[in-house]
Amino acid sequence: MAVMMLSTAFTEFFSLQHPIALAPMGGSAGGALAAAVSNGGGLGLLGGGNGDLDWLARELPIVANGTDKPWGVGFQSWAIDVDTVERVLKQNPRAVMLSFGDPRAFIGPIRRAGAALIIQVTDLDEARQAVDLGADVIVAQGTEGGGHGARRGRSTLPFVPVVVDLAAPTPVLAAGGIADGRGVAAALALGAAGALIGTRFQATVEALVDPSISKAIVEGRGEDTERSTVLDIARGSRWPSRYPGRTLGHPFLDQWRGREDELAADADAKRAYRDGVARGDLPPAPVWASEAVDLINDLPPAADLVGALIAQAQDALARAGTR
Ligand SMILES: Cc1cc2nc3c(=O)[nH]c(=O)nc-3n(C[C@H](O)[C@H](O)[C@H](O)COP(=O)(O)O)c2cc1C
Repeated sequence: MAVMMLSTAFTEFFSLQHPIALAPMGGSAGGALAAAVSNGGGLGLLGGGNGDLDWLARELPIVANGTDKPWGVGFQSWAIDVDTVERVLKQNPRAVMLSFGDPRAFIGPIRRAGAALIIQVTDLDEARQAVDLGADVIVAQGTEGGGHGARRGRSTLPFVPVVVDLAAPTPVLAAGGIADGRGVAAALALGAAGALIGTRFQATVEALVDPSISKAIVEGRGEDTERSTVLDIARGSRWPSRYPGRTLGHPFLDQWRGREDELAADADAKRAYRDGVARGDLPPAPVWASEAVDLINDLPPAADLVGALIAQAQDALARAGTR
């Protein structure tokens, strides 16, 4: 059977087989996962997160040696410095993705190295800025997504097409709440040039997560996810409070929801969190998870997952509107 290729401005720009990008999930999108997604025909983005140099030194060679296809690295702009970006650029990533914060300081080094610039945006002001800065690809992130996002963010369905119109002809990827091929098809129907997917890839063979986390994602329900700053405050994270994170349920969320300032000032409560984790009474880390977590029911190799997402997207597009 002839396979219809889903060819877009994004696949053309990077010479990819499929319009799928791995979200650069800080810590959990390691070299093996990024290489597997690239080898599967998508764009693997290493989760450089807040620029932990030891982590990068370990994971960068794994992706660089693990694939001949294009791959990239993502960072949280609020947390990194130019020096870190310059070190990473020495490994010749095809793309660098910047999210959450002011990207301007990093653009010169990225351009000079000849890497493509991807900027993830959460509102229209950020989208306009990304266009003005000449981003090669813009990721429009909706609040359904797992992990961190803007407190005053937007939902994927209405946000993506507005960014598509604003950014044209720059290709836009849809992100947030996409965990199966129907979501990929929906992204394309909204005018996006592809989908950037995070949570779904945490439940793969190559993801750098504790088995308890992939199990929780496979078992989790969208209703149990929640955007909050409580767990970042409890664990003493540096994430600014303007970026809540979506996670599965957690006893601390029930205990402290709506009392974030009180928790921030309560050293005993924060110690109780650390002690609970150390004793194993509390999960070792927040389980960052998308509202689309209901759609995740297996733990495949990531390259197979890319193929399955595309086959399902093709089927969904062919069937749409037919009885
Ligand atoms: C575990 C996890 C970690 C994440 N870490 C980052 C990060 O370090 N940098 C970043 O730009 N986005 C990060 N994200 C957000 C993704 O880029 C993306 O917007 C989101 O995963 C899309 O929603 P989905 O989870 O429904 O696919 C993370 C997401 C998850 C689930």
